[in-house]
Amino acid sequence: MAEFTLPKNSRIQPGRRFPAPAGAKSVREFKVYRWNPDDGRNPSVDTYEVDLDACGPMVLDALIKIKNEVDPTLTFRRSCREGICGSCAMNIDGTNTLACTRAIADCAGKKAVPIYPLPHMPVVKDLVPDLTQFYAQYASIKPWIRTQTAPPPDRERLQSKEDRAKLDGLYECILCACCSTACPSYWWNGDRYLGPAILLQAHRWLMDSRDEDTGERLDDLEDPFKLYRCHTIMNCTRTCPKGLNPARAIGEIKQMMLARRG
Ligand code: SF4
Ligand code: F3S
Ligand code: FES
Repeated sequence: MAEFTLPKNSRIQPGRRFPAPAGAKSVREFKVYRWNPDDGRNPSVDTYEVDLDACGPMVLDALIKIKNEVDPTLTFRRSCREGICGSCAMNIDGTNTLACTRAIADCAGKKAVPIYPLPHMPVVKDLVPDLTQFYAQYASIKPWIRTQTAPPPDRERLQSKEDRAKLDGLYECILCACCSTACPSYWWNGDRYLGPAILLQAHRWLMDSRDEDTGERLDDLEDPFKLYRCHTIMNCTRTCPKGLNPARAIGEIKQMMLARRG
C-alpha cells in the first residue's frame, strides 16, 4: 500500500462534523480534507456521517451524496463513475485509488474513511490536485505515433496480432496519476523525473510496431532525471487501480537503453 503523505500546503486544523440523519442505523464516518484557497484559512478535515443504507456502495457514491445532500461546497473531480476517465483519483484509506471503484466496505473495518487529495501535489481546492505539471510531462513524450515513412496508399498502417499484444498492460492506463503521486522519487524530483505514469506511456509508444521514432524517443529519455530517478521503490505498481505495472515498464525502457549501447 502507498504511504499517505499530507498535501504540500498542509497545516491541518480541526474541522466540522456533519452528523447522520436521525434514525440512521448503518452510519459510517468519512473524514475529508478541506481547503479553500479563497477563505484564507488553513486546511481542515471535516467529518461527515453517512447513512450507508441510503448510499451507493462506492466511496464516490458517498462523496456525491455528501455534496448533493449535506455540503455543496465539497469539491472533487469525477466523470465516468466506472474507472475509465481517471478523474476521481484521490488518497482513500491511505492508498491512492479511484473513488468510483473503491468500495466503502473495503475500507479498513468499521473505522472512519480518511479521504485526501493525491499526495505531494499542489491543491486547487479540497480533493482536486493541480495536475498541470503531470500533463505537461505527458505532452513532453509526444504521445502519438511518429513516422518517417509514407503510409500505404490503400490502407491504414496495420499491425499483427502479436505486435498488438505487446501493448497489453500499457494501453489500459487511464492517466489517473495514482502511481506517480505514490512514488517518493516523484515527490522529491517531480519537476525533472517523469514519474511512473508518464514512463509507462513512453513505453507504450516505444512498443508500438507502427512507430518509427524509437531512437529519438530513447534519446529523449537518456537523462539522469527523466528516467533514472526510478529506484525500483514499487509503490507505483502496488497502488495502480487498473492493476498495471509501471515499474516493469520502466525496467523495460532501461533494458532498451542498455541493448542499444551494445
Ligand atoms: Fe493510473 Fe495505473 Fe496509469 Fe499510473 S499506470 S496513471 S496508476 S492507470
Ligand atoms: Fe517510483 Fe515505481 Fe520507480 S514507485 S521509484 S517509479 S518503481
Ligand atoms: Fe472516472 Fe472514477 S469517475 S475513473
